[in-house]
Amino acid sequence: MSMELSFKDFFVHSLRSHHCNQLTKADVGKRVTLMGWVHNRRDHGGVIFIDLRDREGLTQIVFNPEICGTSHTMAEHFRAEFVLHVEGEVSARPDYSINPNLPTGEIEVMVDTVKLLNNCNPLPFQLDEADSVSEELRLTYRYLDFRRPQMSSILQARHRVAFAVRQYLNSEGFLEVETPILTKSTPEGARDYLVPSRVNPGNFFALPQSPQIMKQLLMVGGIDKYFQICKCFRDEDLRADRQPEFTQIDMEMSYVTQEEVFRITEGVIRNAFKAGINHDLRLPFPRMTHKESMDLYGCDKPDLRFGLELFNATEILKDSNFKIFNTTLEQGGVIKGLMYPGGASFSRKDLDDLTSYVGNYGAKGLAWFKFVDGSVQSPIAKFFNEDSIAKLQSLSGAKNNDIVFMVCDTQNVVNQSLSALRNHLARIGKMIDDSVFSFLWIIDFPLFKYNDEEQRLESEHHPFTAPVVEDIDLLDSNPLAVRSSSYDLVLNGVEVGSGSIRIHNYALQKKIFELLSLDEYAINEQFGFFLDALKMGAPPHGGIAPGLDRILMLMLGLSSIRDVIAFPKTQKASCLLTKSPSAVSDRQLKELHLRITK
Ligand code: AMO
Repeated sequence: MSMELSFKDFFVHSLRSHHCNQLTKADVGKRVTLMGWVHNRRDHGGVIFIDLRDREGLTQIVFNPEICGTSHTMAEHFRAEFVLHVEGEVSARPDYSINPNLPTGEIEVMVDTVKLLNNCNPLPFQLDEADSVSEELRLTYRYLDFRRPQMSSILQARHRVAFAVRQYLNSEGFLEVETPILTKSTPEGARDYLVPSRVNPGNFFALPQSPQIMKQLLMVGGIDKYFQICKCFRDEDLRADRQPEFTQIDMEMSYVTQEEVFRITEGVIRNAFKAGINHDLRLPFPRMTHKESMDLYGCDKPDLRFGLELFNATEILKDSNFKIFNTTLEQGGVIKGLMYPGGASFSRKDLDDLTSYVGNYGAKGLAWFKFVDGSVQSPIAKFFNEDSIAKLQSLSGAKNNDIVFMVCDTQNVVNQSLSALRNHLARIGKMIDDSVFSFLWIIDFPLFKYNDEEQRLESEHHPFTAPVVEDIDLLDSNPLAVRSSSYDLVLNGVEVGSGSIRIHNYALQKKIFELLSLDEYAINEQFGFFLDALKMGAPPHGGIAPGLDRILMLMLGLSSIRDVIAFPKTQKASCLLTKSPSAVSDRQLKELHLRITK
């Protein structure tokens, strides 16, 4: 029998009565209409069983030649992912075929009428084998990927989270306001995606890296409490937790303190976890100063699901005969270390591997001391006196069979390499409980950092962040010592949100731009409109922007941000499905006054 369809056959003339997860024993005897895909088909001695699938689940439908006549003949030709409209009666399954793992496992639908709504070419991959095919193939046929329950449940969780966030913020008096996508460059530190203007030859819009300036202007305009679940665009190097196009839960509030921003944010996150995975988070989240975080963990986004804190051993090891340490210390370097319990069992090869691991973060070497049966084992032990080694053991808390690692280098290299080593050791030592959600606020960031290459101050967060009031007098004398009213929200070692109390005073904002070495022309050209607004009764305000994709990724226990985005970009910032970015016609280029030079 031919499966050729007439165009008229494609259309739906009546609605389904149920989704494929709904029917139970209570429905036995009812006449129902279902629509969905052929998930699989089994022929048993003339009777054909099909699992019919829609977004919600599966229902077994049965084609018995004695009941359904020609429909049975059609069913013999149905293949995976054909689209069906079936009508029939709900019947209790015989005991031996009850499936306790399926909500509809006690019933089946005895089909009497079937309509083929569409057929389907052989698939590029079988849906139940998607985990073993390449991600490229899945992204190229993303719409097939969504038919898998795993993917569909991610999008459903994403929807529930966004919906709960809107409900919560609405209950707190926030207004959702849309800000433009075609806009002017905003300083979040990445490269802009630019859009040429046809009607303004030679001029470009930038896609927003965030709605930062717009949300501050909304505060100047009296909106008071704003939020937006918004797209942001950043042309930066991609990683597992970065996309060029991603979504923020962007918020801004007038007349608020840091405490109030924390209260609202914690409410957002708690509601998101409840709606997404029915998990009750405990509030408030703990806090740590930036300095404490750098000292103890070597980074500003520590994973607190395990210990392995760093310690500073500069003082106790500074008087050794070890030349490499001495030279580095003379040049202003530091020695920091961490103790790994039971690490005395590491082989030479393990230690070589760890040394090259920290090498990726700039460390020129990894010193180690094993403490075994009252003695110390280390290729460099001979350079240190007994007293220093005893102090090292005591400072690190090392006991029998433990190992102490140390890096001596510039503060930056030491922190970067030991922080990475800490995470690496926790992973290989299986010290991380994946079921834990460890939130942490990092507070009291410095306002500026120094850009060695360009020999100028740079904002640690962004230039609209207010200094801590007590430190304002240091702006001229010691700007690098000025703390800012900014904060990051960290979850399991990943930065999931960032914000600050803003500068709402014209003169202070201008001063910060000047300290950032922006000249008068650049200030006016880039931020003139914004500075004007600050002169017109701007209220004090502050806000934050949690990253929705990252939060979902961690909430759902996924390792790639791509898994929580319907149509993500690849590591090379391209879309495999639409094959974009792509070349455009000469005519389009001409209209835009652009010429491509290779
Ligand atoms: P920030 O630049 O820190 O702050 O971004 C806030 C949060 O957005 C998420 N995020 C990303 N997620 C995925 N891919 C990316 N490329 C990416 N970049 C950032 C992170 C991050 O914590 N306007 C300020 C916020 C404010 O001050 O209110 C801003 O955008 O989760």
